[in-house]
Amino acid sequence: MMKSRAFGHFLVAGAALSLTALSLAGCKGGPSGDVQSSAEDTARYLDSSDGADWPGYGRSYGEQHFSPLAQVNDGNVATLGLAWSLDFGPGNTATVPIAVGGVIYSATGLSVVTAVDAATGKVKWVHDPKIGEKAGAKMRQQWGSRGLSYWNGKIYVGGADGQLIALNATDGKQVWAVQTAPAPGDLRFITGAPRVFDGKVVIGHGGADSSNNRGYITTYDAETGKQLWRFYIVPGNPADGFEDETQKMAAKTWKGEWWKQGGGGAAWNAFAYDPETDTVFVGTGNGAPWNQKVRSPGGGDNLFLCSIVALDAKTGKYKWHYQVNPGETWDFNAAMDLEFADLTIDGKPRKVIMQAPKNGFFYVIDRTSGKLISAEKIAKVNWAEKIDIATGRPVENPAARYPDGKPVTVWPAYRGAHSWMPMAYSPKSKLVYIPKIELSGIYSDEGIDLKHWKRAGGNAADLGLNLGFDVKDPLQDTSSLLAWDPATQKKAWEVKTIGGWNGGVMATGGNLVFQGQLDGRFSAYSADKGKELWHFDAQNAVLGAPISYSVNGEQYVTVMVGMGSSAGSFAASQGGQTFDYRTQKRRMLTFKLGGTGKLPPKDPPFVAKAFDDPDYKPDDKLATAGATIIGQRCMTCHGIGLIAGGLAPDLRGSPVVMDEATFKQVVQGGILHVNGMPQFSELSDADLAAVRQYIRSRAADLRAGRK
Ligand code: HEC
Repeated sequence: MMKSRAFGHFLVAGAALSLTALSLAGCKGGPSGDVQSSAEDTARYLDSSDGADWPGYGRSYGEQHFSPLAQVNDGNVATLGLAWSLDFGPGNTATVPIAVGGVIYSATGLSVVTAVDAATGKVKWVHDPKIGEKAGAKMRQQWGSRGLSYWNGKIYVGGADGQLIALNATDGKQVWAVQTAPAPGDLRFITGAPRVFDGKVVIGHGGADSSNNRGYITTYDAETGKQLWRFYIVPGNPADGFEDETQKMAAKTWKGEWWKQGGGGAAWNAFAYDPETDTVFVGTGNGAPWNQKVRSPGGGDNLFLCSIVALDAKTGKYKWHYQVNPGETWDFNAAMDLEFADLTIDGKPRKVIMQAPKNGFFYVIDRTSGKLISAEKIAKVNWAEKIDIATGRPVENPAARYPDGKPVTVWPAYRGAHSWMPMAYSPKSKLVYIPKIELSGIYSDEGIDLKHWKRAGGNAADLGLNLGFDVKDPLQDTSSLLAWDPATQKKAWEVKTIGGWNGGVMATGGNLVFQGQLDGRFSAYSADKGKELWHFDAQNAVLGAPISYSVNGEQYVTVMVGMGSSAGSFAASQGGQTFDYRTQKRRMLTFKLGGTGKLPPKDPPFVAKAFDDPDYKPDDKLATAGATIIGQRCMTCHGIGLIAGGLAPDLRGSPVVMDEATFKQVVQGGILHVNGMPQFSELSDADLAAVRQYIRSRAADLRAGRK
């Protein structure tokens, strides 16, 4: 609030004036009271805005990851060059920055926010919320922010510790902070970008893979941090009474004592806002635990897991939902980005919301009524034959539910045909550009006591099923950039990308689509044909989506470079690239036409080396016990099979492992927790001995050239 209460009357009159001035002159920035600023901010966030700013994760309320700017275009992109680059410290840089009034803001590492002058690359301020000191076990499921947002002179960011923080955009000082998961021992954490709409900040949380929690989303007043409303994604214990009729309705779709495992549904990523109907859309996550036989024995749809839910923005009251996976049992999140389009379908104009959730279908839904318009496969899918448009429900392959517990290969798998890396929609080409993944998983629950299953505790990844990985199919672990026509549900073009992940996408008014890859190739393609017109060697993985904005009439493109997020758990899916946590370069790169900047020479490729361990004699029993602990508590960061993918040091080469006392201080004592290495005080000395034994066996494998 910049104006005092005494001037309230002036404020109202002034606001009407400035609104007119705004729509006439399209003015930006400058000192502003909240009413005026709210009009300015709304203008910034409209899908139809001029694109000078990129104020939130997907730029606009409709989250299209589209910049209308066309100064850089298919005719001149060959002359796009580096304006400047800025180095960042350790931790997640797989994130999407924002840009407002010529200043770029990014959240890297443990949600450290950096403000940078877009024209010069000079750092204006850095705010470190010291998340590592506060997060405790909340940061055990990886950490790092996917993005932030701007409203009325403030920057909003979430932390692994469950905090939502508002910073003054001018100096980086904290304005307010709220704990979105305050109960002691609550293991909810935040990795997603908060979204702001009409003076309200909305945020969800993560944690459905690792703790007993009941997913919710919460909306706060952007000025004060006061909680406005909360919507629960799954119903609670009926004995406590339901919050409202919606929860009562949802509870009818659950069986057994689901509330004991929490139920899940965490909305960790996707939101969109429609100002015309004042509706917030939420993409909800998977069930907790993944296996429905454990979670809701006897079946049921399990609302509102894996759904797109429409809520009244003022009250948080339920409007409608569309569930992409009734009774979900594979980690088929619908938490992938939600994007708006105004399409003509069968000759009729339709306002739609679109999603490519993990399950391999692409959905087009009427965003006013919630009615499914169409859904088609964009990748290899065998869990369902098709989606029945009349009922909106999938025609499932019953075998995909591993009914007798025996292993079944399911396409796609837990990583999804599309994961968190955002797609983009261009209202010019009318195509959606999807970072697509091909991957299957082997699901079974053999050997699991379904009736008495209990979570391992302490935020350990624990799913209620066994997960395997089939490497035989040549399609396995491949990726591509897919241009898809949402009106006809047909492919326009497709370009192969490296390995089993690829970067988030941005489309622009210059008939361009920008996307990076794991090998550091950052490319611009023609949006209509998919021809690569330009590329730049970013020298490290590019996973976060790029943004574009203008300063003093000049168009810029900015992208973050460096490993982060779940992509870093799967070294085997990195297409032969290797990323060392300590030595990889993490940067912000900014491009403009005629830019002549150069990066310093590239480091030689990193090759993992095992520590020297001449005395190692395998104790298979101990190593197997260690493998179980590591599978549940360490691999999300240190990599599947302990082959690190860039999220944490490669333990097979860590001298710390060779020194029992130091190892104990790090793992049990938590001496590195401020750097993002969580404390595991619950592990006994015997557990630590087993863990070390397994790490040493994996180092021996590396020395011997075994996978
Ligand atoms: C949430 C991510 C995360 C998880 C989970 C995690 N670690 Fe770490 N670990 C890290 C990071 C990040 C570092 C580097 C910290 C630093 O920069 O000092 C690290 C460092 C270490 C180191 C020191 C390595 C070196 O050479 O400096 C050891 C040993 C280690 N971790 C063991 C473990 C074990 C054992 C587990 C499971 C019980 C585990 N970690 C789980 C993120 C994680």
